[in-house]
Amino acid sequence: MTAGPALLFDLVPALRRGPPWPSLGRWPTAIEPIDGLGRSCGLPSGELWIKRDDASAPEYGGNKIRTLEPLLGEALACGARVACATGAFGSNHAVATAWHAPRLGLQPDAVLFSQPPSATARDNVLALLALGVRPWIVPMLALPLAMLAARRRRPAREAGVFVMPPGGATPRGALGYVAAGLELAAQVRAAHAPRPRTIVLPVGSTCTTAGLIVGIALARARALGFEGDPPRIVAVRVTPWPVTARARILRLAGRTARALEAWGAGGALLDEVRRVGRAVAIDGRQLGAGYGRTTEAGLRARERFEACGLPPLDTTYSAKAGAALLERASSLPRPIFFWATKSSAPLPVPNPDIVHAAPRALRRFLDRCARCEPLLHPRGTAR
Ligand SMILES: Cc1ncc(COP(=O)(O)O)c(C=O)c1O
Repeated sequence: MTAGPALLFDLVPALRRGPPWPSLGRWPTAIEPIDGLGRSCGLPSGELWIKRDDASAPEYGGNKIRTLEPLLGEALACGARVACATGAFGSNHAVATAWHAPRLGLQPDAVLFSQPPSATARDNVLALLALGVRPWIVPMLALPLAMLAARRRRPAREAGVFVMPPGGATPRGALGYVAAGLELAAQVRAAHAPRPRTIVLPVGSTCTTAGLIVGIALARARALGFEGDPPRIVAVRVTPWPVTARARILRLAGRTARALEAWGAGGALLDEVRRVGRAVAIDGRQLGAGYGRTTEAGLRARERFEACGLPPLDTTYSAKAGAALLERASSLPRPIFFWATKSSAPLPVPNPDIVHAAPRALRRFLDRCARCEPLLHPRGTAR
């Protein structure tokens, strides 16, 4: 079956003349029924499904691989030699960059700010260190300035540094999930799954949700799927308002759609984006005490997914979406699709010398994390 990026190029051929779009993932990702979990929520079989973006790449998958494909392509087109991710200590975007940028000849870098401790965040920090990234630690409020400075850091300046905003949330980054929306439409057309009436996913930087809105809108505009009422997209907040304000999600979707129209995607797209955007329901009830804070409901969701043999959930993002799914499944329009966004690949661990040489703020953070909930993933080999 043709995968997302190829479908997007077929619909908007001018994109082929733009920056390269390297392939980092294995597309399409599978869609599977999860009847066991569905039954535990009182749903008949065939009503609950999972989109396996957790397995989007064997070494390190998750949603950010889709975002990185167009972004790292842009970095290459700019002549960059360094790809710099920004975000919280436990950023999956930073880990994904650390894994995949070197595959394209780009050196990974990261500018990170502190966050609440958790085993999920600790695993990511350790993975970053194991992958050879020595992050630059800044206060969160200093991030915008640090992003400018990161472009000028020597020797990075000589090399050309491509700095991405947290989550890669730009119209170009969102194209990854435009492609994912088209991929889903193709899978439904090929009868691999029924047409979803609800899609549940976490929303953090807004990139994934915004891209998906545009992908579904593009499929509708070209009569390639999602006909009739658009599916309800339940975007479960993992970062607070205003980061995940509806207006912000829709603004990124609108900018992405306008960029596609400029590439020749056709005039009906923006109207469809508005229609699909109206079907977005933002669920702020699982945020708990804030970004990165583990919640009881999230931990319970993680246990229930595990008991059903489903991909592991992380306490920062996917467990909160999982908790929303479990709480609301019986009242949401069905079939319901849960979009698995956290990589299920084992993470590497650094050898102790690397941890010892890490910035002091990171070492202190790792100490605080040691008292948190048990590890999410089985450990990979020491590097
Ligand atoms: C595992 C996971 N799920 C969901 C999200 C939210 O995606 P977005 O930031 O594109 O809203 C992220 C963001 O980093 C993530 O790492």
